[in-house]
Amino acid sequence: MTIEPKKQIKDRIVVCITGASGSIYALALIRWLVGNGYTVDTVASDTGRKVFEYETGTEFSVKAITPQKALLKIHDNDNLFSPLSSGSYKFGSVAIVPCSMGTLGRLATSSGSMLIERVADVALKERRRLVVVPRETPFNQLHINNMLRLSMAGAVILPAMPGFYHRPKTVNDIVHFMVSKILDAMDIPNDLYKRWQG
Ligand SMILES: Cc1cc2nc3c(=O)[nH]c(=O)nc-3n(C[C@H](O)[C@H](O)[C@H](O)COP(=O)(O)O)c2cc1C
Repeated sequence: MTIEPKKQIKDRIVVCITGASGSIYALALIRWLVGNGYTVDTVASDTGRKVFEYETGTEFSVKAITPQKALLKIHDNDNLFSPLSSGSYKFGSVAIVPCSMGTLGRLATSSGSMLIERVADVALKERRRLVVVPRETPFNQLHINNMLRLSMAGAVILPAMPGFYHRPKTVNDIVHFMVSKILDAMDIPNDLYKRWQG
C-alpha cells in the first residue's frame, strides 16, 4: 500500500466556479496555483462555465487555462462519482470563486445535489478549509443569513471586495489583491500585492 505524502495533500487545491460575475478571480487563482507547483482540481457549474468564457474570453479547458496540463484536472459538476465527492480523497482547501447566491443558498442548507455543493460539504465535515467568495450587490437578507450560516459552519466568507490601499494601477492589480486574500485564507504563502506596512 502506498501512503500519499502529506505535502501532496496540502498542495492539492479545489477551485469551484459558479455563475456569479468575477470568474477572472478563478482564472488568476488557478494560474497562480499551477504556476507555483500546486495541483488543482476544478469544477464549474453550467452557468459558471458560460460566465467564465464570456467574462474572461478563455475557453474552459485545461489547454486554454494553463500549459502545465499535468497539474490541472477539470471535473464535471454532475459527476458525483468523482473522487472529490468523498472525504477519503485527500485535498487541502476548497475555494468557491466566484460564488453565486444560488450556490451560496444550497451550501448554507447543505441541500445541493451537484459536485460543487458536495465537495464544499465534504470540506466542512472533514474540517478542511472552505473559502467562499460571494459576488452580488446589494445583498438581500437571505444572502446575508446564508453567509452567516456558512460562517458558523466553519467556512471563511471572503467577499469579492477588493481594497485600494495598495494603489492598483491595472485591473490585474485589483484581481491579484483578491487572489492574494484567497491564498492567505488557505494559508498559502504568496506575495501577489504590496501589503500594508503602516
Ligand atoms: C453574466 C451573468 C452574471 C451574473 N452575475 C451574478 C452575480 O454576480 N451574482 C449572482 O449571485 N448571480 C449572478 N448571475 C446569476 C447566476 O448565474 C444564476 O443565479 C445561476 O442560476 C447560478 O447558478 P450556479 O449557482 O449553479 O452557478 C449572473 C448571471 C449571468 C449570466
